[in-house]
Amino acid sequence: MRAAVYEQFRGPIAVVEVADPVPQPGEVVVEVLAVGLCRSDYHGWHGTDPDIVCPHVGGHEFVGRVVAVGAGVRRLREGDRVVAPFVCGCGACEPCLLGQHQVCRRQQQPGFTRWGAFAQYTSVPFADTNAVVVPPTVTDEAAALVGCRVGTAYRGVVERGRLAAGEVLCVHGCGGVGLAAVAFGRALGAQVIAVDISPDALALAVALGADLTLDARTTDDVGGAVHDLVGGAHVSVDCLGHAATASNSILSLRALGRHVQIGLFPTPAAELPISRVIRDELEVLGVHGLSASRFGQIFELMDQGRLHPEAMITQRLALADVPRALPAMGSFGQPGVSVVTTM
Ligand SMILES: NC(=O)c1ccc[n+]([C@@H]2O[C@H](COP(=O)([O-])OP(=O)(O)OC[C@H]3O[C@@H](n4cnc5c(N)ncnc54)[C@H](O)[C@@H]3O)[C@@H](O)[C@H]2O)c1
Ligand SMILES: [Zn+2]
Ligand SMILES: [Zn+2]
Repeated sequence: MRAAVYEQFRGPIAVVEVADPVPQPGEVVVEVLAVGLCRSDYHGWHGTDPDIVCPHVGGHEFVGRVVAVGAGVRRLREGDRVVAPFVCGCGACEPCLLGQHQVCRRQQQPGFTRWGAFAQYTSVPFADTNAVVVPPTVTDEAAALVGCRVGTAYRGVVERGRLAAGEVLCVHGCGGVGLAAVAFGRALGAQVIAVDISPDALALAVALGADLTLDARTTDDVGGAVHDLVGGAHVSVDCLGHAATASNSILSLRALGRHVQIGLFPTPAAELPISRVIRDELEVLGVHGLSASRFGQIFELMDQGRLHPEAMITQRLALADVPRALPAMGSFGQPGVSVVTTM
């Protein structure tokens, strides 16, 4: 098969012939139908993910058609169209038995701990637990996004943030995760404030349902501006992963608010306004993807016409474009979401 391989971090990426994956027990092999370019793929290529060993094939936000079923897999058949979370839980450890596969102790991550979907084929580990059959009404590209950014935003806004109708949601960074967070805020009936440094990203956020926008380049005190506009947010989400956006998110909150950290930090520690966390009894919540057991709830929102992930997509690519498009993410030049749809 063809796959986009890098031999070293920050090195060139080349689409080359490699061996086809063979399904190990419990796994399925899928023909990749669509795969998104998530900033976590960029972080991986950049060398900040300790799970990645080179040579490597990224790509963790995919939908595929099952072409081979490994020993012991019961629920899946050849021909099934499936999506899997980027954190594939084992299904048997304590967090998995609690339905919290995203923090599984034996998790595997296609595109990080093993080769992923910037390839014609990839495999899904613990397939009975993680490969979710996609309803026929959902397009390939929308289904792919559920595997990472749409699923993660759901986890952050709905499950961890516990956003309620009539509350204020503030979203810092309106790329793939952030636009999906905006869409869930809208779907839940919240008032949504979108913050970004790109006017194009803010325009997309408005298209997805943001009520108000703030340009972080021209706003000195983003947190103060959110207080001035609406009295502070009940839930605020860092959808970039930077000391500035994490701090802005915390400082955007009203008393008892919930800060949700989705954006990954390239460094293991960051300075945050902890005194504000104490003074206002804020909650600080982490997010690590979404269990496959909850994907049905997202498909239901799509079915009800309350969520349209296609509206986030601004660029459709071929596998041959990955060697150029992935490193280019460093410049933040492309607003919205890029999806590889031609393998
Ligand atoms: N925790 C998880 O489970 C999880 C899952 C998916 C992605 N992530 C992480 O989430 C982050 C976002 O991923 P993505 O694919 O949506 O990224 P993206 O590149 O699509 O979006 C980032 C957005 O942030 C904006 N931005 C840049 N600087 C800013 C600033 N100072 N203030 C406000 N906005 C700013 C950019 O213009 C862009 O619109 C990444 O760190 C990614 O690795 C984490
Ligand atoms: Zn991702
Ligand atoms: Zn587990």
